[in-house]
Amino acid sequence: MKKKLIAGNWKMNGSLAANASLLQSVLDGSAGMTCQAGVCVPAAYLAQAQALLHGQSLIALGAQDISSHEAGAYTGEISASMLQDFAVRYVIVGHSERRQFHAESDSLVAHKAQRALSAGITPIVCVGESLAEREAGQTEAVVKRQLAAVIHTNGHCISEIVLAYEPVWAIGTGRTATPEQAQAVHAVLRAQLNAATAHAARISILYGGSMNAGNAAQLLAQPDIDGGLIGGAALKAADFLAIMAAGSNAV
Ligand code: 13P
Repeated sequence: MKKKLIAGNWKMNGSLAANASLLQSVLDGSAGMTCQAGVCVPAAYLAQAQALLHGQSLIALGAQDISSHEAGAYTGEISASMLQDFAVRYVIVGHSERRQFHAESDSLVAHKAQRALSAGITPIVCVGESLAEREAGQTEAVVKRQLAAVIHTNGHCISEIVLAYEPVWAIGTGRTATPEQAQAVHAVLRAQLNAATAHAARISILYGGSMNAGNAAQLLAQPDIDGGLIGGAALKAADFLAIMAAGSNAV
């Protein structure tokens, strides 16, 4: 049985002072927890977070994006080797906010995942449907199309990714997918991964979208939900710790 993975996505939030206090509280409160955990911080704070997380192994360092290019004239982009300089373990790719606000295509997301994998960084690949797509009955088709692009580009390396199902309508809205709704999509994704690689069992599929201290245990009890990608609740130490505790207690 895989350990649950509880990953915080801080998005574009934080300050030197706020990060230090948040991470210290999370570190202090997480002694003895048995889940896997990580925090995906803004690039500007990678050095700070690396220093604060130094000397412990429970909470891994993550980034929120990676360039699909190796190096060169790509102003504002952050390369895989730069992330390696900070010993980054995870990088989110294809978050719906990047697909929506930065017009990231399925193909670009797949190449970002490839760039991360070739640098030994685990991409947390996000997929998820909009409300309009769900209401039109397209949920399955949308997430399968998004994942298919990543499988197509990455071949057998797909077994090294982490996948996150984040229904766009549940992100930051307080409107969580029910455990049954989430499980149904996770089962579809699990089947697609099983068809793509003999090693699919090692891939964690996280749920993201208004996961919080109150609903985490029920979501994490679903057979194909292997963890959570947490936005708003990752910015409050007590809430993030409660979700980590739920992840540690889940079987
Ligand atoms: P919220 O937990 O704030 O809904 O955000 C989820 C998310 O987008 C994590 O990547």
